[in-house]
Amino acid sequence: MMTVTAAQCPKAGRVSIIGAGNVGSTLGQRLVEKNLADVVLLDIQSGRPKGLALDLMEARGVERHDRTIIGTDDYGDTQNSDLIVIAAGIARKPGMSRDDLLKINAEIVAKVAKQAIAQSPDALLLVVTNPLDVMTYLAWQASGLPPQRVMGMAGVLDAARFGTFIAMELNVSIMDVNAMVLGGHGDLMVPLPRYSTVSGIPITDLMDTGTIARLIERTRNGGAEIVSLMQAGSAYFAPASSACSMVESILYGRARILPAAVYLNGEYDLKDIFIGVPACLDREGVSRVLELDLLDDEYQALHASATSVRQSIETAQTLIG
Ligand code: APR
Repeated sequence: MMTVTAAQCPKAGRVSIIGAGNVGSTLGQRLVEKNLADVVLLDIQSGRPKGLALDLMEARGVERHDRTIIGTDDYGDTQNSDLIVIAAGIARKPGMSRDDLLKINAEIVAKVAKQAIAQSPDALLLVVTNPLDVMTYLAWQASGLPPQRVMGMAGVLDAARFGTFIAMELNVSIMDVNAMVLGGHGDLMVPLPRYSTVSGIPITDLMDTGTIARLIERTRNGGAEIVSLMQAGSAYFAPASSACSMVESILYGRARILPAAVYLNGEYDLKDIFIGVPACLDREGVSRVLELDLLDDEYQALHASATSVRQSIETAQTLIG
């Protein structure tokens, strides 16, 4: 009987995921089981990524895909990656201030970005660690990469949450819903009802303002709602799906327009900041930033969010010296 081995299949992109926690390992699973990329899972805990990778390799016996996944604590194993995803960090623990968390994750993200890019200088960088927009900025600085090759995942997740609540509220298929959320990944994010549609129809034509305000509030609290239900840990299925869609658009040059934390150099009157706006993602990374026509209150809300992101960047830079 003729069998096709992985070696005979078309070459896949190579994605290294730094941080094999819930988000990193679920992203690894999505990438290999969708047959999208070969994956390296790297974590500071050496056994965890190795065990997870072996478990996922054994699942191939059932899932029948051609991709490989390895686990490691050695950056040498990530060499020549096409894309590095940073999902390393720690979650806030009782007694820890926001600044304590900011400092710890800032140090981790800057360090791992440098180490990973040293092994794969031609790679693109996708940041997932929170606080997202701040970590993306710090990873970019530490990596020394051109800003177009660095981006953060949050807008896809926030839009997925908004879209889910829209579909649930209207009792329509999620297939026809496209939501848009701008701004930082936090309380000041800017869901845009005028640019959120069901089969091309803006939701402002389908729902009253009170209902839209309720869905926006639930979207803003999307992460916190899950944390309070789970008690320990935070969301990872939807974050992993969101990162996976960005990886796919990049590796396969699909040029999807997705909301992402990207570097702005004057767009939306903002400079030297990573923040969520719609962008075209392809093989080069961020090939285009799309500037939406904003109403005054939308523009003000985006700028308020940017001010808060900028303050956190400055705090993080002071804390890590
Ligand atoms: N190098 C490599 N891995 C590290 C390092 C480091 N210096 N420091 C921590 N890690 C690893 C941890 O060992 C852990 O396995 O990062 C992983 C984080 O995993 P989880 O605690 O399970 O967190 P997770 O839910 O995956 O979230 C990761 O993504 O969505 C964001 O807010 C979330 O910032 C968080 C990140």
